[in-house]
Amino acid sequence: MTAFTPPPGTADIFENEARSWRFLESTAAKVFSSYGYGELRTPIFEYTEVFQRGLGGETEVVQKEMYTFNDRGGRSLTLRPEGTAGVMRALSNTDVANGTEQRVFYYGPMFRGERPSAGRRRQFHQIGVENVGRCAPLIDAECIAMLHNYLCSIGIKDATFIINTRGVAEDRAPAEKLLREYFAKHLDKMCPDCRTRFERNIWRILDCKQEECGKIIADAPDYVESFTDASKAYFAEVKAALDLLNVPYKVNSRLVRGLDYYVHTVFEVVHSGLGEQIAIAGGGRYELFLPGEKRPLPGVGFATGCERLLLVREALQLPPPESPQTSVYLIGLGAPARLANMGLAASLRQQGLRVEMELEERSFKAQMRGANRSGAKFAVLRGDNELASGIAIVKNMADGSQVEVKEAELTDFIVKSI
Ligand code: HAM
Repeated sequence: MTAFTPPPGTADIFENEARSWRFLESTAAKVFSSYGYGELRTPIFEYTEVFQRGLGGETEVVQKEMYTFNDRGGRSLTLRPEGTAGVMRALSNTDVANGTEQRVFYYGPMFRGERPSAGRRRQFHQIGVENVGRCAPLIDAECIAMLHNYLCSIGIKDATFIINTRGVAEDRAPAEKLLREYFAKHLDKMCPDCRTRFERNIWRILDCKQEECGKIIADAPDYVESFTDASKAYFAEVKAALDLLNVPYKVNSRLVRGLDYYVHTVFEVVHSGLGEQIAIAGGGRYELFLPGEKRPLPGVGFATGCERLLLVREALQLPPPESPQTSVYLIGLGAPARLANMGLAASLRQQGLRVEMELEERSFKAQMRGANRSGAKFAVLRGDNELASGIAIVKNMADGSQVEVKEAELTDFIVKSI
């Protein structure tokens, strides 16, 4: 590794790829705004307690993965590992705390100190939404359906939606008791992390990806059965709405999600286009305590990982968005012609055309090579003679034919011919 490559888990994104990113983002803005969502941009770093409090101190992200540093005044700051906590912090300054619903979407970089691998980065990018202020099963269902709509809109139509319910605070104790009784019998065969989780936060065991734990987890009792009737009814209503909206899903009570703020509905979207199944999106309903507030604020939302969406699109062999074509290439021989071409380029660009030209002294041959490389439909050729006579030569690059056009009519002529 040299100082000239980006740090592990980060990447430079060049135009070819950046075009695909813009496609993901612009499609998101289109789909989400059709559901009444508007964009929110929050800072890339926040006070550390925004995430500690929001995500839960026991979560893997907060314990092991945050990029935390002190500002000059000694206050602890953290690069955002996800978007929800910062969005809630921002919304706490609006009238959302009085029960007004807010629908926001966001995109941008997130940072987690994970071991980099395919589709796992330390700087990765999410596109996400949060619907904040109210709590109802149909809001959750609409949110999941919107994610389904978005994935279909970017060509990913065969992803698997896994959903579950986490119930509410009063559901946790009886469910935890069931899990504790069960896992206590198997703890000696489980990984060291799970033994710690058993003591600190038993739900995290259900997240464990270790093979030896997987089998034991698969046979764990269905704790959702112990939830209150109200929580079960809430989940039933979410499922009924998803059925009505034709959103396919699978229920899996092992899905608890890695962040502590979730209640009621949780969901994850996986895709196997890359061989092993990877999570391309995740989300759910949550309750977050805002600084200074005694009551938690309800919300529901999700985030998709852009790197993973692009990997899946590649695996599905979906064509990348087309690169914009250069329409006109301006060739000028001599300084006066070059300057005149700059003026022509400005007026053609104002008409929305993509224009390229040579800005330095180059031979005619070299400029023609540039015109050919650019893929332009037309080249405009001018030198001292053309300037003196007030005409320019317009060359059709496809068939090589040439016409003479008066200087004053050049822009109109080219715009009409394209
Ligand atoms: P999350 O499941 O931690 O949820 O992340 C959402 C998605 O971000 C994942 O499904 C994955 O596609 C992508 N992702 C996560 N970590 C990485 C990584 N290291 N490299 C590449 N992609 C990654 C959240 O972040 C919640 N804030 C979602 C949410 C919004 N819940 C409610 N509202």
